[in-house]
Amino acid sequence: MTVTTDCQIKPAALIHQEPPISADNCADGRPDTDSETYRQAYGRINGVVVVGETLAHHHFRRLARAIPADGAELLRLGQMEGNHARQLSECARNLGVRPDIRLAKQLFAPLHQLFRQCDERGDIPGCVVIQCLIVECFAVAAYRNYLPVADAFARPITAAVLEDESEHLDYGEVWLKQRFAAVQAAVSAICLQALPTTLGILRALVDDMRVIGMDPYELVASFGEGFQHSLETIGFGSSEAARLLRRAMTA
Ligand SMILES: [Fe+2]
Ligand SMILES: [Fe+2]
Repeated sequence: MTVTTDCQIKPAALIHQEPPISADNCADGRPDTDSETYRQAYGRINGVVVVGETLAHHHFRRLARAIPADGAELLRLGQMEGNHARQLSECARNLGVRPDIRLAKQLFAPLHQLFRQCDERGDIPGCVVIQCLIVECFAVAAYRNYLPVADAFARPITAAVLEDESEHLDYGEVWLKQRFAAVQAAVSAICLQALPTTLGILRALVDDMRVIGMDPYELVASFGEGFQHSLETIGFGSSEAARLLRRAMTA
């Protein structure tokens, strides 16, 4: 199904359209988690999840140093990310699947590099946008999209992680909103750099998402809606937010 967000981003235009990979399904229509196709796809997706959570742990530790006034809170959020990485690794272990960490590190490298560059030049708003808006909006959209097709072991873990990610997103929105006039230009600039990189991770996993029962179009639509809402929450007008999102996601 093709979904169009309020910001008129057309998910189908952002991810390549090849015939869906045929998943091996059980009699009830749910993906067969024992099939080799599922296991391989799950290993690549779980690798991205585990590496994303591990990087989030490091990013929050760096943010704690950069924003000492919120240091204890940011260390707490970082600790949650470390727990997510462990819990979500367990989901792969439960299926007897090995996460593809090597591929995931390659996919996340450009976004992590951007975060490091912001950190090194003292661009704290850039760091907050990358971790607390982009990565967290991406995580919320991905876990929400995965939840209906998660296996019985992964479902409660995913639901709990999803709640935590919303809390992390809230931190970023509040921090940016409190200083919006001063950070607006930096937010726009880093969105234009980091959103295309983030979409690149998603594009690499389109076929694997379909195999495990997720809808990549829905995920992009959900991410676009969530991100536009976040931009409006921190202070952008709705048409301004839509324009920025459209520019960044079609760059
Ligand atoms: Fe997380
Ligand atoms: Fe998070």
